[in-house]
Amino acid sequence: MTAKAKVAIITGASSGIGKAAALRLQSAGYDVVLAARRVHELEEAAAEACPRGGRVLVAACDVTNQSSVKTLFERTRQEFGRLDVLFNNAGIFAQGAPIDEVSYESWKKIVDVNINGMFLCAQEAWKMMKAQDPQGGRIINNGSLAAHNPRPLSAPYTTTKHAITGLTKSLSLDGRPYRIACSQVDIGNAATEFTARMATGILQANGELMVEPRMDVTHVADAILYIANLPLEANVLFMSLLATNMPYVGRG
Ligand SMILES: NC(=O)c1ccc[n+]([C@@H]2O[C@H](COP(=O)([O-])OP(=O)(O)OC[C@H]3O[C@@H](n4cnc5c(N)ncnc54)[C@H](OP(=O)(O)O)[C@@H]3O)[C@@H](O)[C@H]2O)c1
Repeated sequence: MTAKAKVAIITGASSGIGKAAALRLQSAGYDVVLAARRVHELEEAAAEACPRGGRVLVAACDVTNQSSVKTLFERTRQEFGRLDVLFNNAGIFAQGAPIDEVSYESWKKIVDVNINGMFLCAQEAWKMMKAQDPQGGRIINNGSLAAHNPRPLSAPYTTTKHAITGLTKSLSLDGRPYRIACSQVDIGNAATEFTARMATGILQANGELMVEPRMDVTHVADAILYIANLPLEANVLFMSLLATNMPYVGRG
């Protein structure tokens, strides 16, 4: 690869959407940093990298730990010299429950990954993008359709994903002077471990269980590549990407 390859950090690259997006960017020539807690899975993902694609760095990182996040970005700076794209993807789902049955511990855990983790990574990306020459870069936050409408019994998850919309809008506004663009992808039913329960039946607003269609995760990976490849003068602020026939629009 040439020294001009763009550099991307992908959090949650050990599985699902993060892994697919990382491999898609790498095969398109990006130098990629695969970040997550499960190093063995990251190394398995790295082994699937395209031999003619960009360079790959595996980096153990817990996005809820500030020093771990700082180390991730410092390693990226040392290895690749700059950062063009952060795919702020790592996230967890909480077991469905009415709010009176949600423990404070499980609430804090999901807030810690889905909000605090995204904040810490965006903050470190911002520092690098602002300081580097040429200045600027792109932060792509992984929201959810739950950033717009909840599934039943999902207050913690839905709250965190609504919060990401605030982060996306604020960074989009504040990033203008520094050529930092910020996007949000709101995905519905990409086939990952996260959505395995859709295949067996998931609770609907009317109380029924319904098997829901899912889409291949490669469509999300292609969308991330599309956004990443845009010149910094253009931005996809929000993108909803969902399985066409899933019950979402209208009344189900
Ligand atoms: N699949 C969908 O249809 C869908 C729909 C809407 C939104 N999303 C969003 O898409 C993102 C990825 O979901 P997915 O479907 O790909 O699920 P997934 O396969 O379970 O991936 C989640 C990723 O997050 C990482 N992660 C979790 N906690 C972490 C932590 N503390 N530090 C670092 N990494 C952490 C996991 O890696 P480790 O366990 O190795 O750390 C894993 O790689 C999430 O933000 C989710 O909310 C997905």
